[in-house]
Amino acid sequence: MTISNQEEYYNETIELIKKANEYISDGKANVNQEYRNNYHVMAPVGWINDPNGFVYYKGEYHLFYQHYPYDTVWGPMHWGHVKSKDLVHWEHMPVALAPTEEYELDGCFSGSAIEKDGKLYLMYTGHYERAGTKREVQCIAYSEDGIYFQKYKGNPVISENEIKGSASIEDFRDPKVFKKGDLYYSVVASKTKDERGRILLFSSKDLFNWSFKSVLLEGNKEQGIMWECPDLFNIDDKDVLIMSPIEIQKNKYEFYNINSTAVFIGNVDWQTGKFKVENYHEIDYGLDFYAPQTCIDEKNRRIMVAWMQMWKRNMPTNDLKHGWAGSMTLPRELHVKNNRLVQSPIYDIYELIKIDTAFQEKNIQDDTLKFENICDENSYFKLKLDVEKTDDFQIRFAKSENEFILISYDVKEEVFTVNREKSGHKITGVEKPQLFERSLSVIPNNNLLILEIFRDTSSLELFINKQFTVTDTFFPIEKGKDLEITAKGKLIVKLLEKGNVH
Ligand code: FRU
Repeated sequence: MTISNQEEYYNETIELIKKANEYISDGKANVNQEYRNNYHVMAPVGWINDPNGFVYYKGEYHLFYQHYPYDTVWGPMHWGHVKSKDLVHWEHMPVALAPTEEYELDGCFSGSAIEKDGKLYLMYTGHYERAGTKREVQCIAYSEDGIYFQKYKGNPVISENEIKGSASIEDFRDPKVFKKGDLYYSVVASKTKDERGRILLFSSKDLFNWSFKSVLLEGNKEQGIMWECPDLFNIDDKDVLIMSPIEIQKNKYEFYNINSTAVFIGNVDWQTGKFKVENYHEIDYGLDFYAPQTCIDEKNRRIMVAWMQMWKRNMPTNDLKHGWAGSMTLPRELHVKNNRLVQSPIYDIYELIKIDTAFQEKNIQDDTLKFENICDENSYFKLKLDVEKTDDFQIRFAKSENEFILISYDVKEEVFTVNREKSGHKITGVEKPQLFERSLSVIPNNNLLILEIFRDTSSLELFINKQFTVTDTFFPIEKGKDLEITAKGKLIVKLLEKGNVH
């Protein structure tokens, strides 16, 4: 877009975008770098939450996000924007949406993106909440170049008229749009009158005129009081519905955060628009993973990114007035195996990892193996562990005198636990009791566990057997970099590799 077009665009509608962009470019310099990540997406300044509009468009990945540039707490939502050729190097783009119209005065809430005839379309929620009235409607914005967006004059495209009583207009948000055959579809989150999550399915021929098709899926009393951020796709011959339920009931090791994420695996009957569930489970077993969204790229990979933070807990970079809050997870490639969603890091990231330490076949027998100064701020670890003769082991990661992240595994119980209680600045929440650790059951493969740890300055993403993930933020005060592996019984470290992500 030329400068004059750009100006016209600003003058026409979006003074607020100009203001936000100016604020961001002025404010960047004042952001405290101490806990800024190196290879994860963050806003240049201010608050972020959900990933939005994740799409592969004209040879590049675009990722938008819920953004309030003016503070490090949530506020009237804008859409921030980054793009990338490889999912690892991201370029900051101008703010894409700001709340300017009556139907979205209190925020441009979460949504998604799709290409049509070379243009990029955003479908998002207009949020209005004033004087006791709350209303959420679905809206369209479009762009010729994927950078500057125009809001559709006929917005909202889905409101009371289309939902016909099938949802509460107060909680009706986060449209994920996709194409199937000749039709566009959108899944939208809502809830029933008696507070159970509900996902609605709408269809359209042109992205502007939508009609209600069905209640795709509805939860029971245990499955949460509201569902947010749905995404529906087909992979490995299964239909997969991911979403973020609020207050879904705990179940063994699952759903301990007040805001959880869940995946439902099964089949959609496209005649009736109903989802037949075969299995469901939590998506990530950490403390900081919410509102995931996927895109499909030209290699047909289904890639997921989530917000790497959690509602209803304090955020150290806000407490410390560092000028920013929130980050995205590493993009992860998805598959379905044995009716479970499995995740592995996108392979592009491995090209950036330079291995600088490696060894094979080291036994730890009732002892501790110590490495000094190894857990760098952007480090990667791969461990292949044989636990046939092990009772349990603990890994103290990013260890200093008083701080560390504790990753432990109980072989008899087949339970992993990741604990961040002693990892630095305290993170507490409204949950009772306070949650500093999460556990999950993992059955070794022929006695083998393969752990991959992606550490960035203030985050840890653990991949176990390229299947399970645990995502936690942590904000070390002492900046420890040691690593210790302690085993009861005999642990065979078949391989340990350490590198840095550049
Ligand atoms: C999920 C969510 C969405 C909403 C957005 C607002 O984290 O609550 O449902 O659209 O955040 O920022």
